[in-house]
Formats: sequence, C-alpha cells, structure tokens
Amino acid sequence: MNHPAFNSQIAANDNDVPATSDTPVNAPAWVKHRKLIDWVQRVAALTKPDRIVWCDGSQEENDRLCQQMVDAGTLKRLNPAKRPNSYLACSAPSDVARVEDRTFICSERRENAGPTNNWMEPAEMRATLDGLFEGSMRGRTMYVVPFSMGPLGSPIAHIGVELSDSPYVVVNMRIMTRMGRKVYDVLGEDGEFVPCVHSVGAPLAAGEQDVPWPCNDTKYIVHFPEARAIWSYGSGYGGNALLGKKCFALRIASTMGRDEGWLAEHMLILGVTSPEGRKHHVAAAFPSACGKTNFAMLIPPESLNGWKISTIGDDIAWIKPGKDGRLYAINPEAGYFGVAPGTSEKTNSNAMATLKENVLFTNVALTDDGDVWWEGMTDEAPAHLIDWQGQDWTPEIAKESGRKAAHPNARFTAPASQCPSIDADWENPAGVPIDAFIFGGRRSTTVPLVTEARNWTEGVYMAATMGSETTAAAAGKQGVVRRDPFAMLPFCGYNMSDYFQHWLKVGARLGDLQARVPKIFCVNWFRKDAQGRFVWPGFGENMRVLCWMVGRIEGTAGGEQHAFGLSPRYEDLDWTGLTFTRAQFADVISVDEAAWREELSLHGQLFDTLQQGLPQALHDTRDQLTGRLAA
Ligand code: OXD
Ligand code: MN
Repeated sequence: MNHPAFNSQIAANDNDVPATSDTPVNAPAWVKHRKLIDWVQRVAALTKPDRIVWCDGSQEENDRLCQQMVDAGTLKRLNPAKRPNSYLACSAPSDVARVEDRTFICSERRENAGPTNNWMEPAEMRATLDGLFEGSMRGRTMYVVPFSMGPLGSPIAHIGVELSDSPYVVVNMRIMTRMGRKVYDVLGEDGEFVPCVHSVGAPLAAGEQDVPWPCNDTKYIVHFPEARAIWSYGSGYGGNALLGKKCFALRIASTMGRDEGWLAEHMLILGVTSPEGRKHHVAAAFPSACGKTNFAMLIPPESLNGWKISTIGDDIAWIKPGKDGRLYAINPEAGYFGVAPGTSEKTNSNAMATLKENVLFTNVALTDDGDVWWEGMTDEAPAHLIDWQGQDWTPEIAKESGRKAAHPNARFTAPASQCPSIDADWENPAGVPIDAFIFGGRRSTTVPLVTEARNWTEGVYMAATMGSETTAAAAGKQGVVRRDPFAMLPFCGYNMSDYFQHWLKVGARLGDLQARVPKIFCVNWFRKDAQGRFVWPGFGENMRVLCWMVGRIEGTAGGEQHAFGLSPRYEDLDWTGLTFTRAQFADVISVDEAAWREELSLHGQLFDTLQQGLPQALHDTRDQLTGRLAA
C-alpha cells in the first residue's frame, strides 16, 4: 500500500501486532495480495465470524446466497413468470434510509471535516469501533467482497474490498459494482484498494434463531479520509451498507479527488444527440430523490423529432482531466439503486424496462401473484397487497390509515446493462468528455426553470448555494428547504469550503490549458403556482431545456440576462407539440426581486456557517449578484 496511513488505520485495532484469528482465513490461491489477506485476518480476529467466504462474483455463488436468504426469510423469490430471477427484501422498520446523523468523517483535524460533517477524533472513533466490532460477526459468515468502482482497469476507476456479514450486501454489490474474482487480477500482489468493513451488528449466540433483517439500533457510518478506510456498523440498508456507493464513491473519493486533482460527484451522466447526430455529454447534480434516475433515462417527446438521450450513469460521476485538458467522466457504478415509488411507464419507461428481470427490490409491496407494486407504479392500486411491513394492504385500508404499501424510500437494485437507453460508451474506460454541468434542486418558488452561469465562478456559486426541499431518501423531516451545495452536503468527505475551492481550482486549470470549459447551468423543474400545482410538466419535456443548453454550447441559442445569470426567453425554447403559454413560462422563469433578496440573504447565512476557508471569490460573487439585483 502506498498510502502512509494505510497500515495502521486499516488495522482493526491500532497496534501493529498482527492479530490471529480463530476463524480459518483460507484465502483462495487467486488472492495474491498479502496485505489484504493480513487485513482480512485482523478484521476476523476482531469480529469473530464463524466462517469467511471469499466471493468470486459468479452466478452460482449469487444463486446460492439468494437461496440461503430465501430459506432464512430475508428474501422472497418473485413469480418467475412475471419477474424472472428477482427477489424482494423487506427491512426492519427502523432501517430504511441513510442515517446522516450517524455518519462521521474522522479526519485527523476537525477543520478538515468542516462544520457540515459529524466529526470525531480518529483514535477515539477507532476505540469506539473496536468495542462495537468486537465479536459483532459471531454466528455469521464474513464475506470478502472485492469490487471495482468503474470499468476494471480504467485509469479513472478505483478498487475497494468490503468485508460484510450481510449476504444481502453481497448480492447488491454484485449488481452495483464490478464485483468478483477478476478484481484480484487488477489488484495483483500490492495494488491499492479502499478497505471497507461492514457489520449489521447482530451477533448470534450458539443456537440462536436469526431474524430476516438483522441490524442494530446503534449505527455508525464512519470514514477515515487520510487512511481511506470505511467502517459501517448497525445498518443493512442501501448507502449505509453498500459501501462502494456513497461511502467510497463520494465521501472517500471526493478526498482522493481533492488530493489528486479530480472530481467525485453526486451526478448523473447522460449523452444528448441532436437530430443531425452531434453528441454532447452533460453531468447533472440533484439532491437525493429529485428525479436523477428519471432525468438520466429521459425519453424526448416525439414532437422533438430525432433528439436522443443515452444513459451513462444515474447517481455518481468520477471526473478526471484528460490529456487534452478536457474533463472525462465515468460512472463508477454498474447498477441502479433507484427509488421505486413514483417510477412508472409514464414517468420512466426505461427504468421500468430495466426492472423486467434480475432485480432486487427492497421495501416495495408484494402482489397476490408474486410480483411487486409501489405507489405511483399504476394509476390504480391492486385490490390487495402485502405491504413492505408484511401486513395486508388494500386501497380502503390505505384511505383510512394513510399507510403506504411501499416505503417512500423503497428501492430497486438493477443492472445498468439492462437499461434500454444505456450509452454505447458507458463502459468506455476513457470516460466521456463533459460539455456542461447542471445543478438543480426542488424549489417551489424563487429559482428559475433554467439559468446559465456567466462564467465558471458564477456556476460554482450557483452550485454552492443550491437549496432543495427535503425528501424521504434520508431519515428526518420532509419538505423543508435545506441548502445542499452541489447536492454533496451529505456526501462530501471533507470541508465544504475547501471543496468549493477545489472546484474553482479545477476551473482555473481548464482556463490555463485553454481547454474547453464546460458550461454550468442551474435548473428547477419544481416551481409551483398559487394553487400549489407544479407548473412545468417535467420528465420528457425537460428535453426542451436540454435542447436549449445544447444550443448555448454550440453558440446558436439566445437568452436574456437577469441578476442571477442568463435564461431563455419564451421564443428561445422549442415548443413544438407542447401547449405551454407565455404566462406559464413566466411562472417558471421569473426572477422575483423580493424573493431573491431573501434568497441572497439565506446564501449569506450559509456562508456564515461555512465561513472558515470559504473562497473570497464566492463572497465577491454574492456581492456582485446583490449589486445586480439592486441595479
Ligand atoms: C441515493 C441518495 O440513494 O442520494 O442515491 O440518497
Ligand atoms: Mn444519490
């Protein structure tokens, strides 16, 4: 391992004496990485699993684990005639979302975590974890799960190894990442990997009967940025447990990007191809559950003859400068862990097609014929269901009690390769060149449908001050505006102000190289009218906004400056096939002076919170915007 802190910090306890384990480690011959084997041994000595399984990622292994989980009551096999090779898992009601208040960035110095992350002194946290992980895998199997984030061997990709006592995690990781034996070929004898340790925190005493969804009320999702290590305890759900995703691909990778000059972002990546065949790529950041998956798989309206969208990623982008100075992006993931409720043939038929087979569903409802259902899948609900908590559910019961059939944060885990709109280059190890960044939030007022930043710094400002009304993807109150800079607030592994500075630096370097600097846009699909109804139709119609952006990139589309940036006039958008009046357009594009005065003062409050290290350029931009508003 090249990283200086690696050896000490991946150790289960903080001494260098190699712990011996009673559990036979039995590494297969194809694992040649001595330090990895030693680390597995140390973690086993601490967590004391009954056995260790080195995952090879094969179909046979997957089928065996799924059968085992069916027998244990963790999974239900869905009707193979309806949903071949697919399963449903229902979690404990206390373990249904990411737990941000239990998520920690344990950098050596508190300032490096910044005011928006929970921090604990690393040694203190390691002592806490030692206590929690001591014997935490008793009675269980520890799986060794090697995975690549990004196409195997891509210069933009990185490798991780997750040790987990959850077979549910293993089968999810097999869909979400490139998981299995081939990872060891890339890793060799001394390749770098991010060590990830996960326990559901539910050891079994001899003879004790397991529960379908083991977990613990005490939860810790912990990142050691300097050591590039992750320890997760107590939850089996999503981003808390599938450590390749938010923990590695965002929190740890963002710090790697800061140190090495690249970007790890909470962004979808899509290709836009014009009727004439010109192709551009955009990366777009939206907070959780704002329709990123829908946008990534957008189907343009037929009336916009011949425009095409192709999907490269739906949640995370790793972006590195190429030799030509441009920014190249890969999707580090290999699957979609998407929010099921609201997904339908109408809202995202590409997702529905992706979900036809080989899918793991979590916390959706079960139909009487062994298929799945969730709110919004069809206009009419089935007459009877078993809800995500295993209880009878009917539309009448729902009406009376308000009980949902599927949990609002219910998910599907599905292979990206099954998506009909998948881009031919989605596994290109070189990535795709980015022409524009889009930032968006869920705002019922204030923020226009689309605004182009006048320059990189103004774009960074827009992204840094993004706000969004909260949703069910994270535990906590829903529907209040929370500032979510770059949609990275829960996912940045270091001080947010330093992160802004890093973005400014990346832009300055593009300028120095005289490379093509991507344009930056801010969008808001969610403006509401006085009656509280969404004004903009959204979904496929968002293509009209993308077409305008392409026009801006190519220098052909017009627009009008306002205090905040540049937005299209009514005549700058293509309205063919859509009835959307000038008055409606005014409702979604207007910049209300009083609302913006308030908005800028809220930006000021955010800047007060982030004051330590906040780039002067952002203060200056705020002053300029305030001046423009007054003018
Ligand atoms: C996600 C999230 O699961 O952002 O993608 O919460
Ligand atoms: Mn996300």
